[in-house]
Amino acid sequence: MNFQKARKNMINESIMKENPFDQFNLWYNEELESKSYLPDAMTLSTVGADMMPSSRIVFMKILTEEGFIFFTNYRSKKGRQLEENPKASLLFFWPRLIRQVRVEGLVERCSEQISDDYFNSRPLPSRAASLLSKQSEPLDDKEAFDNNVKRLAENEEMVTRPEHWGGYVLKPQLFEFWQNREHRSHDRFAYTLEGPGWKITRLYP
Ligand SMILES: Cc1cc2nc3c(=O)[nH]c(=O)nc-3n(C[C@H](O)[C@H](O)[C@H](O)COP(=O)(O)O)c2cc1C
Repeated sequence: MNFQKARKNMINESIMKENPFDQFNLWYNEELESKSYLPDAMTLSTVGADMMPSSRIVFMKILTEEGFIFFTNYRSKKGRQLEENPKASLLFFWPRLIRQVRVEGLVERCSEQISDDYFNSRPLPSRAASLLSKQSEPLDDKEAFDNNVKRLAENEEMVTRPEHWGGYVLKPQLFEFWQNREHRSHDRFAYTLEGPGWKITRLYP
């Protein structure tokens, strides 16, 4: 299906997976197979103590049974907001199949092990940049920053994960799957946590 074509047939509840993580993986893989560009880019929305929402794209780097893991600077704007209020929303927009997935939940820092493992898997220049970046603060001299990163990267033994950089895991309490269909007759399903399991509800689009 290309961008212009809406899905013709209604999605029946019975074909939605019982577990929203399984449903997410199914749609994610279908988007990947459709040669989508950056299907792992997700909009992360946070709200700090001032109650002003703030959104930005981050990459979903790991998906486990626990939740969605992304990596960032803990002192960045998002990091500060998450310390003040550990609730967040993720949004995936998948244009190839014209789908949207919303995920909401509580956010925690990942274990040191997960953050170290991911940090060490990154290319050296990226690691050096993460170490030196004061993400979200004013940068007066970009050239000086780039040179400092280059210089640091020449001494690999100095490039260890700083304590202000690491992963967060968003543990979902809500998923919502939206599929475009002809004549605005879109399909929309919410999964909410009910006791130990997930309850599926069709919503008006
Ligand atoms: C495609 C894309 C992927 C990105 N991935 C990340 C990421 O994984 N981690 C991150 O900290 N910033 C990432 N960014 C940059 C963020 O969108 C944002 O500018 C930065 O994290 C600072 O956000 P903040 O000031 O709200 O904390 C990405 C941006 C784009 C466009």
